[in-house]
Amino acid sequence: LATMTVPAMSSCSGTGGGARRPVTPPDDFSTPLAVPPLDEGTMVSPGVREFALTAREGTHDMGTGVATPTWGFNGDHLGPTLRARSGETVRVRVTNDLPEETTVHWHGMHLPAVMDGGPHQMIEPGGTWEPVWTIDQPAASLWYHPHPHGATEEHVYRGLAGMFWIDPDEGPDTRLPHRYGVDDVPVVVQDKRLDDDGELDLDDQGLEIGLLGDRVLANGTWGGHVEASTELLRLRLLNGSTARTYGLGFSDDRDFDVVATDGGLLERPVATTRVRLSPGERAEVVVRLAPAERVRLVSYGAELGDVVIPSVFGADDVIDVLEIRARDRLEPSPPVPEVLTSIERLDPSAADARREWELEGREINGQGMDMDRVDATVTAGALEQWTVRSRNPYPHNFHVHDVQFRVVAVDGAPPPPLLAGLKDTVYLEPHVSYDLLMRFGDHADPEHPYMFHCHLLLHEDDGMMGQFVVVDDGDAADLSGHEGH
Ligand code: C2O
Ligand code: CU
Repeated sequence: LATMTVPAMSSCSGTGGGARRPVTPPDDFSTPLAVPPLDEGTMVSPGVREFALTAREGTHDMGTGVATPTWGFNGDHLGPTLRARSGETVRVRVTNDLPEETTVHWHGMHLPAVMDGGPHQMIEPGGTWEPVWTIDQPAASLWYHPHPHGATEEHVYRGLAGMFWIDPDEGPDTRLPHRYGVDDVPVVVQDKRLDDDGELDLDDQGLEIGLLGDRVLANGTWGGHVEASTELLRLRLLNGSTARTYGLGFSDDRDFDVVATDGGLLERPVATTRVRLSPGERAEVVVRLAPAERVRLVSYGAELGDVVIPSVFGADDVIDVLEIRARDRLEPSPPVPEVLTSIERLDPSAADARREWELEGREINGQGMDMDRVDATVTAGALEQWTVRSRNPYPHNFHVHDVQFRVVAVDGAPPPPLLAGLKDTVYLEPHVSYDLLMRFGDHADPEHPYMFHCHLLLHEDDGMMGQFVVVDDGDAADLSGHEGH
């Protein structure tokens, strides 16, 4: 087993373009990986599932032995994995026990705009909010996090994030590893930096991309290990970081299967050695294990290639995320099916509308976010093609609320296999154009906008965000006068 080591790095505190931002490797992996509690809610009537989430203050040990002040949902840090089925009606009673207002956004979920939890659905301290919607999309690993305008980076960084798993309508997909915390494990990857008092350091040190931590945690555990008892282990990876993009793989460079991306299963598993996740993106991977072996999930930052910020990653930085420890005897797992699902083909030439969005600095098409401006009016049920491009040398990505889109072209070429499934967030390589095709839903509501934005949270907070409304056919013309460009 080839061992990749993280090179010893000198500490560095400069803020200039040439400064390195070294990541401290954990000394060992002796801490069991924290697995967020599974919360399947309560069935209050047939097909109606109810959850309760309370955002509150707490403390959490980030592997330093110090109780770091954090925020969490229903606990000190992060939040439970909510789990419901396609077709069910979901009601969440959200309580804000924080000293300031916040929101809870259901990232990747198709739902009415007023239930979306964006910056227009603020919850006052002490207040509650009770969104209800019916799940109308396939099985997927989604997530939830705050979205208060101007403070999303801080709220997520303090610990407000959790996963929201949608199962098929008949229950968990038994063709794949599906026992929660046993062979099907959520992995929320986040980087953090603590100051000398053990408090979260919220200073972005002048970095163009925002907060970069000096330690990488999985589910809040630094140097964690997961014990595997089965031949196949499914990891549901979420990049819940504020700014950092990861190139995830294993320490011995082994192949693994990617079975799902943001919005659900790929048509066929994709065998690969790397999966790139920018903030907000998810991937479900299935890795095969040999008895008694140890292998680490790592991020090959330097291999982000032309997307790397040379001043942030060293040429050979490999960041440990967690260790997998296989038991001496492993239960057999059924093989990963060759065909996982089929995804509807969308024809770009059938698009009802085309829009272009250029991301530069903190603006989209030369404008910063304005809560009172609608940037796009979309007809319910329309098929639209959005062409998106970053005009900066440093990273941006692009997230659209309410829909799962298809990446139909990258600089005019067919997308790589890992971008060919259902996506709600896509990494934008600098100066490369991405054609995104999306079918909007039928939740027409001209009063409540959905967001689209860069998911590097500093950029989002600084205004790299726009708003769209979905209207009934015929209403679009009346509203077009309000559009901002
Ligand atoms: Cu994950 Cu608009 O957010
Ligand atoms: Cu950005």
